[in-house]
Amino acid sequence: MDDLAVSSAIRVTDLVVGFGRQVVLNELSLEVRRGEILGLVGASGGGKSVLMRTIIGLIPRRSGTIEVMGIPLGRAEERATQEVATRWGILFQQGALFSSLTVKQNVQFPLRENLQMSQTLMDEIAIAKLEMVGLRAEDGDKFPAELSGGMTKRAALARALALDPAIVFLDEPTSGLDPISAGDFDALIKTLQQTLGLTVFMVTHDLASLNTVCDRVAALADGKIVAIGPMRDLLRSEHPWVKAYFHGKRSQMLQPKVS
Ligand SMILES: Nc1ncnc2c1ncn2[C@@H]1O[C@H](COP(=O)(O)OP(=O)(O)OP(=O)(O)O)[C@@H](O)[C@H]1O
Ligand SMILES: [Mg+2]
Repeated sequence: MDDLAVSSAIRVTDLVVGFGRQVVLNELSLEVRRGEILGLVGASGGGKSVLMRTIIGLIPRRSGTIEVMGIPLGRAEERATQEVATRWGILFQQGALFSSLTVKQNVQFPLRENLQMSQTLMDEIAIAKLEMVGLRAEDGDKFPAELSGGMTKRAALARALALDPAIVFLDEPTSGLDPISAGDFDALIKTLQQTLGLTVFMVTHDLASLNTVCDRVAALADGKIVAIGPMRDLLRSEHPWVKAYFHGKRSQMLQPKVS
C-alpha cells in the first residue's frame, strides 16, 4: 500500500498484553495520526511504557493488532516489519544512552546496526543530529556520565532521530528537567514536528507539555484508552480517573488552559 494514502501513523486495535495473571492492557484501541504530537497520560504502573514497548515489538501481545504506517506488525512478512522498524526512533524512560559509548557513538549506533556507510558519513550525520537537538559537535566526544540531565535527553533524542524516522516514541522526555529546560525540550519537539513532519507519541506527566505541545492527549486507565482528544476535551471529560487527574489538587495549582 502506498503509505501516503494511510492517514494513521499507528493503529492499535483490541490490544491485550499481560504478564502471568496480570492483565496490563485490556482490549486497548488507539490511533495516532500522521504528523501529530500525541501525549499519553495514565497512572504510574498503568501500562504506558508497556504500550509503547508492545508497539515497537519488545513485549509480546496476547491478542489484538498493531499497524504502523498501514503495515500490520508481527503478521507482515519479516522484511516489511524490519523496514517499519527503521522508521521509528525511541527515547526510553530509563537507560537513555549506552554508558560505555561516547555521545557520538551513541547517535551512530542505529546507523551502524541498520545501514552500511562510511565513518566519515556517520560522523557528519552524528554532528548534524547533535546540532538539530541543540548540542554542540564537541559534546559528541563526551561520555553519558559527563552530561547534564537535559543534555542526556537531547543526546537520546539525537540518537532517536539518527535514522530519519517518521515516528518518534518519547517516554517521559522531560521528567527530571527543570521547568525551563523542559520548556526548551518541548519547543524542540514542536520544531522537529513542524520541520521534519514527525509523528510524536509521547508519554508524559508534564501538564505544561500536554497543554502546549500536544495536538491531542490520550488517557490510559483500566487497561484502555478512556479519553482522547485535544486538551480542552480532556479537561471536560467525565471519566472519573481523567477528572481526578486534571482537576485534582496538584493540577489545580497549575491552572491548565481551558479553551
Ligand atoms: N517485563 C515485565 N514483566 C512483568 N511485568 C511488567 C513488565 N513490564 C511492566 N510490567 C508491569 O506492567 C505494569 C505497567 O507497567 P508500565 O511500566 O507500563 O507502567 P507505566 O504506566 O509506564 O508507569 P510509570 O508512569 O511509573 O512509568 C506494572 O504493573 C509493571 O510492573
Ligand atoms: Mg513508564
